[in-house]
Amino acid sequence: MTAFPHRHLLGIEGLSADDIRFLLDEAEQWIAFNRGRRKQDDRLAGLTQVNAFFENSTRTLFSFEIAGKRLGAQVANFHVAASSVKKGESLIDTALTLNAMRPDILVIRHEQDGAARDVAAVMDCPVINAGDGRGEHPTQALLDALTMRRRKGRIEGLKVAICGDILNSRVARSNLKLLPMLGAEVRVVGPEMLLPKDGRLDGIPAFTDFNEGIAGADVVMMLRIQRERMEEAVAGSLGDFHALYGLTWERLRHAAPDALVMHPGPMNRGVEIESSVADDPERSAITEQVENGVALRMACLDVLTRDRR
Ligand code: CP
Repeated sequence: MTAFPHRHLLGIEGLSADDIRFLLDEAEQWIAFNRGRRKQDDRLAGLTQVNAFFENSTRTLFSFEIAGKRLGAQVANFHVAASSVKKGESLIDTALTLNAMRPDILVIRHEQDGAARDVAAVMDCPVINAGDGRGEHPTQALLDALTMRRRKGRIEGLKVAICGDILNSRVARSNLKLLPMLGAEVRVVGPEMLLPKDGRLDGIPAFTDFNEGIAGADVVMMLRIQRERMEEAVAGSLGDFHALYGLTWERLRHAAPDALVMHPGPMNRGVEIESSVADDPERSAITEQVENGVALRMACLDVLTRDRR
């Protein structure tokens, strides 16, 4: 494959295994580039990248901004808090307004499922979904796969346990699509009330016992408890989540001896993960996920704008 055959990147849904491998392969070059002293390429020179984040973000927003700038794009961040969204302007009217300013690529995060798809329908440029509600977070799943491939040398055959708040996680949703496509054996682990019942887990083993769920896992991916997306009653009945579902050294012994620990961030330290596990340089890949995220997003910006250059 020499070109990415899609106009937008709205989800893992709709991508093939070859599309995914293509993006991961493209990202590799940027990891080496980003470790160099001079981090400036000009392939996006003259193009305008708009980042419109309607929900807070550190990793995704900042890495897209850095990625675009390192590729030479003019990067403009749309500040929702200071925008006419606060006067009641709708998402689609906002999108049409941004579109009229002729961006070459739009990166959007929004609290509504399907927002990126709705916006893409009215834009004349490629759109990247940087997270839509409980929908998808495709660049996170791609950077997770890149991190696993680099650390483990493969994805096929890896036993991956995705643990915690599966129900509210767009990261889980995207990973549950991507990882089986590349041949990983995926299972989910969490309290019954945080496991989706909408068919998303069809064919995916689900465990409510943490130690049983991570037994023999090559990768233990912890997720943030997303209280902001839970009904109050659910959040209130979670009890001492850490006691039952927090990743500790003691629990990690149930996974494979060299199991890799991952977390998309932001972490609730002492809730879903113990600090000393998260910070362990041998076992934890959390900061590598962030580093690989810049490279992966450079690859996405590059391949989606090739026909505009
Ligand atoms: N993983 C992730 O999406 O982090 P941010 O919310 O900080 O972008």
